Amino acid sequence: MSLNIGFRSPEQWEQLAKAHLDKGAFDYIQTGAGAEETLQANIDGFKQWKIVPRVMRDVSSVDVSTSIFGERASMPVSLAPVGFQTIIHPDGELAAAKAAAAQQVPYTVSTVSTYSMEEIAEAMGNAPRFFQLYWPSDDDIALSFIRRAEQNGFSAIFVTVDTPMLGWREQDKQNQYFPLRKGEGLGNYLTDPIFTEKTLASREGTEQTIAEVASRLFNRSLTWEKINWLRKQTKLPIVAKGIVHPEDAKLAVEVGLDGLVVSNHGGRQLDGSISSIEALPAVKEAVGNDIQILFDGGIRRGADIVKALALGADSILIGRLYAYGLINGQAGVMHVIAQLKEELETSLVLTGESSLASLQQATLVRAQK
Ligand code: FNR
Repeated sequence: MSLNIGFRSPEQWEQLAKAHLDKGAFDYIQTGAGAEETLQANIDGFKQWKIVPRVMRDVSSVDVSTSIFGERASMPVSLAPVGFQTIIHPDGELAAAKAAAAQQVPYTVSTVSTYSMEEIAEAMGNAPRFFQLYWPSDDDIALSFIRRAEQNGFSAIFVTVDTPMLGWREQDKQNQYFPLRKGEGLGNYLTDPIFTEKTLASREGTEQTIAEVASRLFNRSLTWEKINWLRKQTKLPIVAKGIVHPEDAKLAVEVGLDGLVVSNHGGRQLDGSISSIEALPAVKEAVGNDIQILFDGGIRRGADIVKALALGADSILIGRLYAYGLINGQAGVMHVIAQLKEELETSLVLTGESSLASLQQATLVRAQK
């Protein structure tokens, strides 16, 4: 790993991002909704669980590689959809996606990426990628996004289900900061044939385009019926991102989804909601092995991955962790991923497990209060 960066802890990456970004951009990434109880709980939740390692089990060779929706991955980790990545680095999504490709972990393109999914796909070659859909208020645009994802080698669609509207983000309100308003994150809309055909604004100027995108970006009327409809429109695996209630997890199975992400959107949506790691056991209990279970929220270290897998996740996603690395462009994101993999392998060996399958059986106990 000759990335010329040296060792940096997750906290040091965060500090570096804070030092280099303007306040509006840094706060947009780092903060959560409301009083940030859920943001904090995502981190603290991991401390409620303790690993009880086994010893003397010949862990001379460990293998953390796996497959995620049919794609080989060097570890059970994908990069989560993070919008507007050009607020962190001018190369934005192109840099992060190339880093993911180089480190053999899937990259998830956000609906509100600044570069278009076509540009990102081209930068990635054949490397695995997923597309995240904020289901627009217009189904024709939703379908157009899906078709473009199919044509550009994306291997799963993550429908974000926890965002019928933006959460109550106090810091962004104080900073009067929303990247879309600055013209970031328009890549997929500006290049969409249906959007541009339907809206005069896209031909009139940036202000109008932004207003048109903002008015179409989220959809409060979504129900599982729409997912049922989508299921018939595409053969790509469909994943519901943002499940914390076990009954919703069961519904995801019932409508024939291929995966779900136990997630509260990194504490950015409903403040006061359950932390991701607290939600995971009940979701696992409800759906067992009927559906791939992914997890995100608060993952910063290898031991966090160990805990998430032991509590039932098949793989996890990282959000802020790599977003901070992006301050150093592609090399920074590669550094974060490589370091996380080394740390995961270390944690696996020290837990006394040599495969991910056995790790899923590892013993955890609740911390003493
Ligand atoms: C996000 N997240 C997100 N999710 C999504 O479905 N679409 C998106 O465009 C975005 N954008 C976004 C921007 C920023 C700056 C952050 C921090 C997060 C949520 C993301 O995919 C993931 O659920 C969380 O980031 C996971 O929590 P951690 O890893 O950041 O603690």
